[in-house]
Amino acid sequence: VTADATYAGLRDPAIREADAALTAYLADTSSTDDPYPLYARIRELAPVHRCSLGYWVVTDYETSVTALRHPALSRERAAAVQFRWLGVEGDPPEVIQAIDSWLATILNRDPPEHSRLRALVSRAFTPRAVTRWRERTETIVDGIIDGVGDRESFDLLSDIAYPVPEAVIADLMGVPLADHELWKLWMVGIGQGATFSRSVDGDAAPMPSGVRERAQESIRLAYQYFHDLVERRRGETGTDLLSLLIQAEEDGDRLSQTELVGTLILLVLAGHETTANLIANGVLALLRNPDQWRLLHEHPELAGGAVEEVLRYDGPARGQPRIATEALDLGGHRIEAGEQVMVIVNAANRDPARFPEPDRFDITRGDGGHLAFATGVHYCVGAALARLEGEVALQRLAERFPDLYLGSDTWTYKRSHGRNLTTLPVVRTAAAML
Ligand code: HEM
Repeated sequence: VTADATYAGLRDPAIREADAALTAYLADTSSTDDPYPLYARIRELAPVHRCSLGYWVVTDYETSVTALRHPALSRERAAAVQFRWLGVEGDPPEVIQAIDSWLATILNRDPPEHSRLRALVSRAFTPRAVTRWRERTETIVDGIIDGVGDRESFDLLSDIAYPVPEAVIADLMGVPLADHELWKLWMVGIGQGATFSRSVDGDAAPMPSGVRERAQESIRLAYQYFHDLVERRRGETGTDLLSLLIQAEEDGDRLSQTELVGTLILLVLAGHETTANLIANGVLALLRNPDQWRLLHEHPELAGGAVEEVLRYDGPARGQPRIATEALDLGGHRIEAGEQVMVIVNAANRDPARFPEPDRFDITRGDGGHLAFATGVHYCVGAALARLEGEVALQRLAERFPDLYLGSDTWTYKRSHGRNLTTLPVVRTAAAML
């Protein structure tokens, strides 16, 4: 099947209709609170298809695994398309430098450069190293939950879900927690790079005014901040992650300064919004299925399984982009060199061919084979940490608030590259709901 013939697939009215619904969501994730029926429809009709936005979309599990592990599908090339538009010739050199540094990180590199950086970073994130953070994470989570005090109702997203990863990463990396509001600002900037990147091609929704300027400003500030922090901390011999990475840079050519600063930005940002949404999406799924909340309350040892099920059922990182470096066959379709492929991991994780009754949320499912952390060389380096934070947070919340209810029945999501709630109001007793 050639790419053109597949394009012709869009002439099939059923596929065209399913594609239109799906692409409206991909272009603006705030447009619906439930994309899963859209994913299911397109997966049934055309699990690999070239969508009307011009890129290939993969929605079944088997092809998603193949795509994420395929050496000819490059994350580096995709990242360049996502972010290069933010800094073009004529833009301030500080902006270009900041973008270069972001593009120099493991997430945005292919092997062999990827392998060198990954070996360094992953030393700090082995499951054994993460186990040592359990106690500290428990103390942090308990303190944050205590902060809710006697309030009958609160916003679980801003009061608990965000503060947990903020405090954990600050602690572990040795960066000042007091600056977390700044991180949020930069995250918006970098997130917007990814979210609006297709707008420059002129085939997606128009870019809201000021987006580019705001994104540039936040990336520039992020670079400046971490650059200054590194300069201040040089020569110290701490054991936190920041000190270890500085030592790796000072040891010689293992890490350049551009890579070091980019890595710090990546580590602070990559695990921030994602982990916050693991906790928030988890609480939402559990409270929508009150039997599961009760089960977790009665059996706290199920928290690890609950985290896996949340990641499968409604994971924070919706899809991962790639660009073909050469022509390849994917799910019976020919992908030409230079074409873009979006692997929708949240769709793959609901594929009935892999997960029986995929739309049922069941914390006892006992299947951690989801793709929420991707697979292949870019498999999330922070997965063990995210799992630990999610497990402790969900366990402690179910333990401390057996009678927790949703404070709303409508849910809105950000226009973003992920699956990010705007707010999660909860109330502590059924009486408070009246
Ligand atoms: C629930 C929370 C998280 C989710 C869902 C998540 C998801 C992902 C995914 C899907 C990728 C691969 C992207 C791709 O294949 O293109 C990734 C990579 C990465 N994640 Fe996470 N992540 C989470 C938490 C974290 C945390 C806590 C950290 C560290 C503090 C982290 C650091 C990274 C890094 C550094 C990479 C790049 C790895 C590489 O390219 O080799 N993530 N993450």
